[in-house]
Amino acid sequence: MRRVLVTGAGSGIGRAIARSFADAGDAVTVAGRRAGPLHETDGGRGMTVAPADVTDEAAVDALFARPFDVVVANAGAGRVAPLTDLALSEWNATLAVNLTGTFLTFRAALRGMGPGGRLIAMASTASLKGGPGIAAYVAAKHGVLGLVRATATEVARRGITCNAVCPGFVDTDMGEAAIAGVMQRLGIDRAAATARVTGANPMRRLIDVDEVVAATVFLASPGASMVNGHALAVSGGEI
Ligand SMILES: NC(=O)c1ccc[n+]([C@@H]2O[C@H](COP(=O)([O-])OP(=O)(O)OC[C@H]3O[C@@H](n4cnc5c(N)ncnc54)[C@H](OP(=O)(O)O)[C@@H]3O)[C@@H](O)[C@H]2O)c1
Repeated sequence: MRRVLVTGAGSGIGRAIARSFADAGDAVTVAGRRAGPLHETDGGRGMTVAPADVTDEAAVDALFARPFDVVVANAGAGRVAPLTDLALSEWNATLAVNLTGTFLTFRAALRGMGPGGRLIAMASTASLKGGPGIAAYVAAKHGVLGLVRATATEVARRGITCNAVCPGFVDTDMGEAAIAGVMQRLGIDRAAATARVTGANPMRRLIDVDEVVAATVFLASPGASMVNGHALAVSGGEI
């Protein structure tokens, strides 16, 4: 039985990933700032609930009292703001959760991780291209991919891999917030806003969480043992 840690597991993509590993028989620990949503993710599956803020060094280190075989650094957040309106506090907060959180999680994970270990970052198409109004998020997610690529070269000889999953717009609270933001900013209805948000995706639809789960499960599988430092886009061909 593998030991799996998923951060940001109280909702959306993280919740679905945690449930998928647990349903496959792995011993799953779920982390996030709020305990309530983490218990909901568990839903009686026997997961270990470990509330932690991934920007807090001591809290992250405490998650790794025992080593994990698979670590999914999924916690993340982003808000739309033009660069000229971007407060320093917002810039710092965005880098803290997406980039520094992934750094702290991977660094702690590697202290005890053995051969066959898997580090997986939930990056984004924003790791691969820019977009208007999301400079801090794009910078943070580009940083996550840089961290993944560098880490992959450091851990390769230990039989560990480090990879990134790069989804486009996914049907979660975060995807919903993006649509709501476009509705408000442009004064358009939901259908028009959804069309704009999904416009860059050749499949013209939001990505289902299960499609992101499948990519993550693959990267954690024995069959992916030679996939290292890779950015796996789940974007319908957007990039
Ligand atoms: N949805 C999309 O369209 C999309 C596309 C590409 C990439 N992604 C990435 O996928 C990941 C998951 O996104 P999602 O769509 O599932 O969003 P979500 O539903 O908002 O989930 C984010 C989770 O992260 C947790 N979190 C936030 N800040 C945290 C912190 N400081 N420490 C620990 N946990 C924290 C939140 O729980 P608490 O508030 O309880 O901490 C929440 O459960 C993120 O990294 C996001 O950037 C999302």
